[in-house]
Amino acid sequence: MESKLPAAKWRTLWLAILLYYVSGINEAQCDILPVRPIHHNNTALRQVLEALTAKYPNITRLYSIGKSYQGKSLWVIEITKDPGKHLPGKPELKYVANMHGNEVVGRELLLLLADHLCSNYGRDQRITKLVDTTRIHLLPSMNPDGWESSHVGCTGIKGRFNANGVDLNRNFPDPYDGQTNELQPETQAIMNWIHREPFVLSANLHGGTLVVNYPFDNLPSELKRSTTRVYYSSPDDDIFVNIAKLYSKTHPTMHNGNPRCPIQREEKFPDGITNGAAWYPISGGMQDYNYYKTNCFEITLELGCCKYPPARYLSPYWRANREALLKYIELVHNTGIRGFVFDEKGRPIEGAKIIIENRAKKVKTYKDGDYWRLLVPGNYIIRVAKRKYKNSKKTITVDPDAIAYANFTLVRKRSKNFSRRRLAAKMNPVAQPLKSTNNVSFHKVVTHRDKLRLSAKSPGKSASTVLGPFIITSLVCFVLVALLK
Ligand SMILES: *[C@@H]1O[C@H](CO)[C@@H](O)[C@H](O)[C@H]1NC(C)=O
Ligand SMILES: *[C@@H]1O[C@H](CO)[C@@H](O)[C@H](O)[C@H]1NC(C)=O
Ligand SMILES: *[C@@H]1O[C@H](CO)[C@@H](O)[C@H](O)[C@H]1NC(C)=O
Ligand SMILES: *[C@@H]1O[C@H](CO)[C@@H](O)[C@H](O)[C@H]1NC(C)=O
Ligand SMILES: *[C@@H]1O[C@H](CO)[C@@H](O)[C@H](O)[C@H]1NC(C)=O
Ligand SMILES: [Zn+2]
Repeated sequence: MESKLPAAKWRTLWLAILLYYVSGINEAQCDILPVRPIHHNNTALRQVLEALTAKYPNITRLYSIGKSYQGKSLWVIEITKDPGKHLPGKPELKYVANMHGNEVVGRELLLLLADHLCSNYGRDQRITKLVDTTRIHLLPSMNPDGWESSHVGCTGIKGRFNANGVDLNRNFPDPYDGQTNELQPETQAIMNWIHREPFVLSANLHGGTLVVNYPFDNLPSELKRSTTRVYYSSPDDDIFVNIAKLYSKTHPTMHNGNPRCPIQREEKFPDGITNGAAWYPISGGMQDYNYYKTNCFEITLELGCCKYPPARYLSPYWRANREALLKYIELVHNTGIRGFVFDEKGRPIEGAKIIIENRAKKVKTYKDGDYWRLLVPGNYIIRVAKRKYKNSKKTITVDPDAIAYANFTLVRKRSKNFSRRRLAAKMNPVAQPLKSTNNVSFHKVVTHRDKLRLSAKSPGKSASTVLGPFIITSLVCFVLVALLK
C-alpha cells in the first residue's frame, strides 16, 4: 500500500509537467494563431503560414514560387481539399499582394483570409464548400525586400521597388513596349507560376486609393499621344466591368467612387471601378500580362488611401474587404461557361482553343481537357478548335449567377491535309488605321498582330522565353504570308 502512494504522486507530477509543456506549446501557437490584425514582418509572415499548414494539414500546402532579388522565398499558401495538384474540373484562383513593398494592407488581408478559410472549414457551410471545390493560392508578399525598407505612412514610395530598384508592376513583358527594363527574379517567378498553374481568375492587391482597376493598363503608342484620356477596353470589357463592380459593390464604400485621398482629393471613379488606361496607362503591368499570355483574368484592387496604415486600421480593412474577397473567389463557380473537351475515345484534349464568336480572346483547355470561360449572361456561339481535329460548335445560354456547362467531343480529321487555302485567308492581315478617339475598344482596332497576342499559351509549356514565342510566331506568320501570296 505504502509503496503505491508515491507512484501515484509521481504520476500526478508527470501529468502536471506534461500539461504545463502542452499548454506552453499551445501558448506559443496562440501567439501566432489565430492570425492577428498586426503588421507581420517577413519572419512572422512565414511563421503564420507554417502554423496554418501545421494546424490544417488536410487543406493546406506551403510552397515557394521562387526568390526575391535578395534571396527571400516568395511563399504561397494553397488552400483546398486535397492540396498539391490540379484536379480535373476544379477551378484555380490566386491573390497576389504586396507587389509594391510599401503597400501592405493586402499582405495582412491575405493572412487573415487564409486563417478565415482554414478555421471555418468544416464549421461554416459556405467556406467548406468553397475550400472543397476551389484551389485557392495566396501570395501575401510578392516583394518581401521592398517591405523590409518600407515604414508606416500613407503616401510615399520608400519600399515600393524591389531591392534592385525596379517597380515590379512595370516589369512584365509588354505587348506594345516589350521589355523596357531587366526582368527581375520576382517577376520571373510570377511568370513561371502563372504559366504552370491553370489559373482562371486573379486579383492583385495594392493600396494608395480606393478603386478596382481592370485591363487594359497599357495601349498602343499611337493612342498614348492623344491629349484626352483613352479608355482602352479589352475584348472582355463587359465581364471585367462586371467582376470589378462585384468587388466594389460588395465593399461598403468603394462603389461610391469618391476615395477623397489627401493627395488626389478630387479624384472620382464612377461605381468605384476604372479601366487602367483611362486612369493612367502603365507599361509592363501584371494584369495585362495575365490576360494577354494566359487563360487567367486579373484585376487590380486599390484597397484604400493609406499604403501602410498603423496596425489599428487593419481590422476595419479586413471587415470591409472580407465579403468581397470571398464573393470574388465564388465567381469561378457562378460565371460564364465551363466544361471539358475530349476526343472520340473520351481522352482529354489539352490546348484546344475555346473560341467565342466576336471575341478575340481565346482560352485553351488544360491537361485534363478542362476549361473555364468567364462571360456575362447572354447567348454565345462557341467553337472549339484544335489542329488535326474537326471544329465543334455549340450555342450556349449563360444565365445570371449560374455557370453553364458545355462538354465537347472533337473528331479527328481523316487526312493530314489541312487546308492551306483557309489558312491563307485567315492569315491575311487586315491592319486598320488606328483612330484617336477617347473611347477605344480593342476589337475595333484589332490587328492581326494583336489577335495573335490574345491566344492563350498552353500552360505547362516552357515559360522561360517569353519573348521567344512572340518573335517566332511573328516570323512564321511573316514567312507564311509571304509564301502564300
Ligand atoms: C519580426 O517579428 C517578430 C514577432 O513580432 C519579432 O519577434 C522579431 O524580432 C521581428 N524580426 C525583426 C527582424 O524585426
Ligand atoms: C485529416 O484527414 C484525416 C482523414 O480524413 C482525418 O482523420 C484527420 O482527422 C484530419 N486532420 C485534421 C487536422 O483535420
Ligand atoms: C462533362 O464531362 C465531365 C467529365 O467527364 C462530366 O463529369 C460531366 O458530367 C459532363 N457534363 C455534361 C453536361 O455532360
Ligand atoms: C486536300 O485539300 C484539298 C483542298 O481542300 C482537296 O481538294 C483535296 O481533295 C484534299 N486531299 C486529300 C487527300 O484529302
Ligand atoms: C466608353 O466605354 C465604356 C465601357 O465600354 C462605357 O461605359 C462608356 O460609356 C464609354 N464612354 C464613351 C464616352 O463613349
Ligand atoms: Zn501599387
